Amino acid sequence: MPTLLIVHHTPSPNCQAMFEAVLSGATDPEIEDVRVVRRAALSATAGDVLDADGYLLGTPANLGYMSGALKHFFDQIYYPCLDTTRGRPFGYYVHGGNDVTGAVRGIESVTTGLGWRRAAETVTVTGEPDKDAVERCWELGATLAAGLTD
Ligand SMILES: Cc1cc2nc3c(=O)[nH]c(=O)nc-3n(C[C@H](O)[C@H](O)[C@H](O)COP(=O)(O)O)c2cc1C
Repeated sequence: MPTLLIVHHTPSPNCQAMFEAVLSGATDPEIEDVRVVRRAALSATAGDVLDADGYLLGTPANLGYMSGALKHFFDQIYYPCLDTTRGRPFGYYVHGGNDVTGAVRGIESVTTGLGWRRAAETVTVTGEPDKDAVERCWELGATLAAGLTD
């Protein structure tokens, strides 16, 4: 059974709302035979990444970049997973206070280095996620999970 790995840093209620919507989409009962594994970014390992078939990342924007926690995740897994995970699908969401540009650029850069293939629309939100934002997060999770069943 294919595995979707969700790696997230969730330090606030607004980030939690996005994470829960993504998880709800990924675990929709209509999507059968996909295992969804979730890991806090500080506890995810290279083994988790190697064992998965697709990736969903979530982070706040911090100091013009992805969170230190997600950066730590990439620092840990980059070389152990380079080549082996090339071409695998991924997607991500970013929550920020006012400007998520640097976080998006950072994630695009490192995932390009890994050779991962973005397989769903990125979701960026500032402030409290509204209904539309929650729906886009749900779609993000559902798209990544459903894509693994193809
Ligand atoms: C140290 C620190 C740095 C931050 N830097 C940014 C930033 O560069 N861009 C941005 O849009 N938001 C920034 N924020 C806001 C966080 O992204 C935001 O607090 C987080 O997404 C949680 O959202 P919430 O506080 O609305 O729940 C920063 C927050 C902290 C604590």
